[in-house]
Amino acid sequence: MQNKSRKTKPKVFITRIIRDKGLDLVRESCTVDLWTGELPPKREELLEHVNGVDGLLCLLTDRIDAEIMDAAGPGLKVISNHAVGFDNIDVMAATLRRIPVGNTPGILTDATADMAFALMMAAGRRVVEAEKFLRQGKWKTWSPSLLLGVDFAGATIGIIGFGRIGQAVAKRATGFSMRILYYDPNLLIENSDLPVISTDLDTLLRESDFISLHVPLTPETRHLVNAGFLSKLKSNAVLINTSRGAVVDQVALYQTLKEHRIFAAALDVTDPEPLPLESPLLKLDNCIIVPHIASASIQSRDMMSYISANNLLEGLNNQRLPHCVNPEVYD
Ligand code: DGY
Repeated sequence: MQNKSRKTKPKVFITRIIRDKGLDLVRESCTVDLWTGELPPKREELLEHVNGVDGLLCLLTDRIDAEIMDAAGPGLKVISNHAVGFDNIDVMAATLRRIPVGNTPGILTDATADMAFALMMAAGRRVVEAEKFLRQGKWKTWSPSLLLGVDFAGATIGIIGFGRIGQAVAKRATGFSMRILYYDPNLLIENSDLPVISTDLDTLLRESDFISLHVPLTPETRHLVNAGFLSKLKSNAVLINTSRGAVVDQVALYQTLKEHRIFAAALDVTDPEPLPLESPLLKLDNCIIVPHIASASIQSRDMMSYISANNLLEGLNNQRLPHCVNPEVYD
């Protein structure tokens, strides 16, 4: 006989296979509908699978808006994003419905800053181009002017967006004896342990040899890097984007790189993702593009899985999410 008093488990939809650390946790106490497709669920599939769920654990590849929330129905208690960025979610629509939205800050800071630096070095020292050159059998002999790159020691780095990740990039830059400028209209650090200088954007663009982007994608930052921005950069500048693809106007970037008006760019993120193979950016030797892997270290992805699962479970238990992007739902 069934025990009638046993509480039914909450129903959750998880939009992709996440690392075991979080998945196992959710499976212990929930009825899980897990999307196992290689690609994210299409819009109709997402609408269908959210129907009647108590909780949703989604990825940055899922657009979660009012329509999805309404398709889930009034039982939807929590949306947990498996990412620190949450531009894929209509947070205002969630707040209006008093649904807390969780994210995964902190635990991918170092991995992302490491990748920003890896890209900076790869682009500045032409690592990808050199590797391709060698594999294509073009290397004939050691030569004094072969594949020359730019210098790091004593160079100026300009960090745009000085939150956790921007600061972690600054920390790494001190090890390279770089002068560090930052621009962040929302943050002025009075007494930083780091030797950093706060500047206005124009000064940063004019003086930096490396520019690293660490802003969230908002209406204000969409195409922040446009033709005007790029025209202010030094000819030896290297631009790095590990934030969101749409922060950069890729048409303007392509023109700038093609005409060698800056030295190079390296993008972890593009708009759209994946970038179509026919994109002209992929034809340029002075542009490195990797598939949105800045947080892709084993530890970071395990922790993203764990933290997003934990946010989901706390929300299902009517507890405050440990990492909530719209805490006003609790007012
Ligand atoms: C995030 O968490 O927002 C990152 O872009 C994923 O790597």
